[in-house]
Amino acid sequence: MSTMLQDYDHLLNIDPLSQYDILTTNPESHLYALGRCKESLNGRWHFTVDVYDTFLRKKFFEERVTDAQGRALPVDCDFDQWETVEVPSNWNCQKKEYWYFEGSGIYTRTFHYVPKAPDERVILHLGASNYGCRVWLNTRLIGRHTGGFTPFSVELTQHLKPNAGNRLILEVNNTRSVDQVPSLNYDWFNYGGVFRSVDLYRVPACYIRDSYIALAPNNRYDTLAVEITVDGAGSGIPVWLEIPELSLSVMLHTDAFGVAKSELTAKPQLWSPQNPKLYRVMVSTEGDRIEELVGFRQITTLGKKILLNGQEIFLKGVCCHEEIPERGRALTPADQRQVILQAKELGCNIMRLSHYPHDRNMALLADEMGMLLWEEIPVYWALCFENPTTQASAQNQMTELVMRDRNRASVVLWGVGNENPDTEARLDFMRALVDICKRLDPTRLTTAACLVDIDVMTVRDRLCQYIDVVAINEYYGWYYRDYTGLATILENTKLDRPLVISETGADALSGHHGMDEELFTEEHQAKMYQKQLELSEGSIQGFFPWILYDFRSPIRLNSYQQGFNRKGLISYDKTHRKLAHRVIQDYSCSVKN
Ligand code: GCU
Repeated sequence: MSTMLQDYDHLLNIDPLSQYDILTTNPESHLYALGRCKESLNGRWHFTVDVYDTFLRKKFFEERVTDAQGRALPVDCDFDQWETVEVPSNWNCQKKEYWYFEGSGIYTRTFHYVPKAPDERVILHLGASNYGCRVWLNTRLIGRHTGGFTPFSVELTQHLKPNAGNRLILEVNNTRSVDQVPSLNYDWFNYGGVFRSVDLYRVPACYIRDSYIALAPNNRYDTLAVEITVDGAGSGIPVWLEIPELSLSVMLHTDAFGVAKSELTAKPQLWSPQNPKLYRVMVSTEGDRIEELVGFRQITTLGKKILLNGQEIFLKGVCCHEEIPERGRALTPADQRQVILQAKELGCNIMRLSHYPHDRNMALLADEMGMLLWEEIPVYWALCFENPTTQASAQNQMTELVMRDRNRASVVLWGVGNENPDTEARLDFMRALVDICKRLDPTRLTTAACLVDIDVMTVRDRLCQYIDVVAINEYYGWYYRDYTGLATILENTKLDRPLVISETGADALSGHHGMDEELFTEEHQAKMYQKQLELSEGSIQGFFPWILYDFRSPIRLNSYQQGFNRKGLISYDKTHRKLAHRVIQDYSCSVKN
């Protein structure tokens, strides 16, 4: 390329950005980042918002500060003079000016790398960054990920400078676009940035990339299905699995693909919300070792029933966004524990973590505290279901979520979508997601929050026959003021599998009181739930109020809402319990399971 075009590329190139759309990371090759030593890269990173994508246009990542003769060049960027922000965090919460910012944020820091073993490999792991993230190390673009709520990892080994400073750059972009998942329009706030942990993992040349262990759903509760993937291994590599409390210690061998698979006889105590029993599970190879706490339980359906460990269970649920005042989606473990405690206080045995994968620690805490979980990816409202980029993004996110949490006993339902149009393209799109769940994890149930067909007042979404549990979002008493619509639907709906109400609710401004048919009052919200519970009694296998807390949403603009969806049973700051909170609490305590 002529020097002219090269030097003026940032001026003359109408599309300078697509050259950076390298292949995204492979979701099945991510490091299973649990139960092994790590070096945290959290803390203060240099940061700038980059409104015109100048970082990419002018190739700041090359750090070219002198010309061929060594003379200093007037470069429009000096990384280490930029302000610093906290990682993990959402940039919206770091500075008032960034509150509504949608675009690119550039994070950079250096770290000194001293090799600890000759053949060690170094892997960078991010818990999540919203939405797109490109990774540079020492001026090279080495990885790209899309999807705002799932983990990914990038290998650094071959680009690292040993015994020297290394510069890492993360270019994160949360601009909404039509072909993404979710697409342009949704009912939550688009927090941007690196809002979950950033860590470095040192692993040997052959390392345990993934470990999957679960109770085989055979109604005998006596078989553990194990699948361990060793990266860099061929066949015959020994892999040890130990569960001391079950006196289980076996040696397996990898196949040609580096996978060691087996079914082992064992009779564990079964995990349940009442008895969240966890076992220490250790997996090791000659050079590597991981350890985690795992619970064993069986979740199945039988006709319209949902069975946990063979016993019928009613899902006493609540929906929840991942949000905390002041810090957006960057919840601490203490915040996460409080959320689960407040759901328990409400009498719930299950939480729907909507509408995107929440932090991995929620599932670890739910395992420990005894709370079932519904986890889902943001296949939300209208998407470009025919678009291959959109399909790939949804399939990546589904794969990343399932691979991240398929050892968590608390997770019983994979949600493949929420309120989507019943079209051919959408059906294929979501069936592909169901297939991914079943291929990667045959031990759990699949579901989707479907819309009711209001023309014929029944649930007849074509997706119903491909998911294990049918869920409906309905707001009779709110968006439709006539409560009885719910009774009509339940009467008309003939399904051969469990049906749950995955969302219902009404906005109520905390502390705003009035008549029980006056909208936005606590009295109306409470009445709405009383009616819903009355009319659905005996026709459903689960009930999930929308929602535990008020939450931020830029599409909620009336004077009661002011940028918040006010359907919480508890206020945004998690302090005020609205009247409906007691209605749900009393109800949950009345349901015996
Ligand atoms: C929908 C949607 C939620 C939304 C809720 C509401 O059902 O799934 O994300 O917040 O309705 O209208 O409040």
